[in-house]
Amino acid sequence: MTDDTHGDGDTGDGRPRLAQLRDVETVYQPAEDSRLLAETATDHGVGSGDLVLDVGTGSGYVAARVREETGARVVGTDISPDACRQASEAGVSVVRANLVAPFRDEQFDIVVCNPPYLPTPPDQEWDDPMERALSGGEDGRAMVDPFLAAVGRVLAPGGQVYLLISTLTGPDAVRETARAAGFETAVVATESQPFERLLVLELTAAA
Ligand SMILES: C[S@@+](CC[C@H](N)C(=O)[O-])C[C@H]1O[C@@H](n2cnc3c(N)ncnc32)[C@H](O)[C@@H]1O
Repeated sequence: MTDDTHGDGDTGDGRPRLAQLRDVETVYQPAEDSRLLAETATDHGVGSGDLVLDVGTGSGYVAARVREETGARVVGTDISPDACRQASEAGVSVVRANLVAPFRDEQFDIVVCNPPYLPTPPDQEWDDPMERALSGGEDGRAMVDPFLAAVGRVLAPGGQVYLLISTLTGPDAVRETARAAGFETAVVATESQPFERLLVLELTAAA
């Protein structure tokens, strides 16, 4: 298993990372979930005067669509250097970060996020950037839970989060965690897929 101790895909001893050995895509490419999130955020909440943060921006697709369709200013952030590079090449302003760590309190009007949300048994985890893009750990909420704990800090009062999840992620548990973090929650979009139903949750911070 590759030891990516730097978090940048370089194993530190000259060995290429697993993804390079496999010659596979290292950045999540836009899919049905990306499109549902972008459309829901533009249709529901984002206005031209808003400052929007796209957490886990990947290729930058959601960030770019929200910016182009609403005129809002949008910043993307991702833990993957490959994703940050690709989003930047797509014209998105990007900050490499874990969740919302570097951003100021109450900085954003809207946060959008399509997290890794698929439940994955430990013995089926693999070790490359696509794992971090897709796997939500055993219950599917390995990134969702820390995101919900952290995102309220960077939201302006009354601000909103648009969070994409799946029926596989445990929507009731996600909404309960969001309520415990101080949000009102509503399901504002759903879409059936062969093995799951995608949902977009609208989480509203106290005004
Ligand atoms: C399902 S992909 C979504 C990509 C893109 N937003 C889209 O909708 O097409 C999830 C993204 O979250 C990123 N990610 C995973 N854990 C993260 C973390 N702790 N902080 C920031 N980004 C993270 C992954 O690198 C990946 O690009």
